[in-house]
Amino acid sequence: MANQVTFKLNTGASIPAVGLGTWKSKPGEVAEAVRTALKAGYRHLDCAYAYGNEKEIGGVLKEFFDDPASGVKRSDVFITSKLWTTFMEKERVPECLDKTLSNLGLEYVDLYLIHWPVSLAYGDALIPTNPDGTRKVIDVPLEETWAAMEAVHRAGKAKAIGVSNFTAAKLERIIKSGSVVPAVNQVELHPFLIQDRLLSYATSKGIHLTAYSPLGTSDSPVRKKDAPSLLDNDQVKATAASYNKSSAQVLVRWAVQRGTSVLPKSVNPDRIKQNLDVFDFELSAQHMADLSGLNQNLRMSAIPWPKDPFADDNEVA
Ligand code: A2P
Repeated sequence: MANQVTFKLNTGASIPAVGLGTWKSKPGEVAEAVRTALKAGYRHLDCAYAYGNEKEIGGVLKEFFDDPASGVKRSDVFITSKLWTTFMEKERVPECLDKTLSNLGLEYVDLYLIHWPVSLAYGDALIPTNPDGTRKVIDVPLEETWAAMEAVHRAGKAKAIGVSNFTAAKLERIIKSGSVVPAVNQVELHPFLIQDRLLSYATSKGIHLTAYSPLGTSDSPVRKKDAPSLLDNDQVKATAASYNKSSAQVLVRWAVQRGTSVLPKSVNPDRIKQNLDVFDFELSAQHMADLSGLNQNLRMSAIPWPKDPFADDNEVA
């Protein structure tokens, strides 16, 4: 495997360009996926409280970190997790992080993100609902949640803090109110949703973007039914053929060359290895532009939040 690329965060830490996505990786499958990934050379894992699989991931981390022969130490792996929307009140933030740390068997995460700019009622349910089936929203200012994120960062439980699914307008709000600029904004990003404006805004503020659903998230239960396939797109396939690589590898490489880290999800051993094997070729400027030219501003994930978290997308140029 050729040398992996890393990007520098505004904390000074390095984030490996390619991380293993674990959203949708079922308990029962995720352990083997993480084991395969660490053996294949992945040093970046993307997790979240809401994925319901952190305990199983923690079991695999323990196997590796407890065994000097594994060659993988805690400090070698960049581990991200996310604050769920039912824990947005300031006193709940450390509670959610502590649950994650306990499940993963860690003393700190490398990066802790606000998962969504949405607040739902605290309780047992991940998605609490009203009697009419709508989601039980509560009003928690993002500024309050961000202040509590800064506190867990200061406490050393999160080496870096950031957000996910934030528009530039919402980033502006927390930059204004807080004393720490988010290190990362993790968003849906692929050639059908290139988010050029958000990328240049984030770059101008020193915020790194991480791409989720880079392969078009074909296994997602919340994927728009009529969304076209990225992996089967003719342009993507033709580009892949010209480098003797797969469509997935071209999509991962496109993300890396734009300066974003990227989280392909797989539970298949061959595909896990393949998705990291992207450091021995370089897409030409023309191929990069052609792939970006596929943009349709298409968000494939359509989660039925009561209020569209992307409605203010155009407020900051
Ligand atoms: P699997 O987990 O069986 O490999 P995304 O990262 O955009 O969410 O996409 C994940 C989907 O893409 C999953 O269905 C995953 O299936 C599939 N996938 C992952 N890697 C590859 C690959 N190299 N080639 C084809 N499909 C892939």
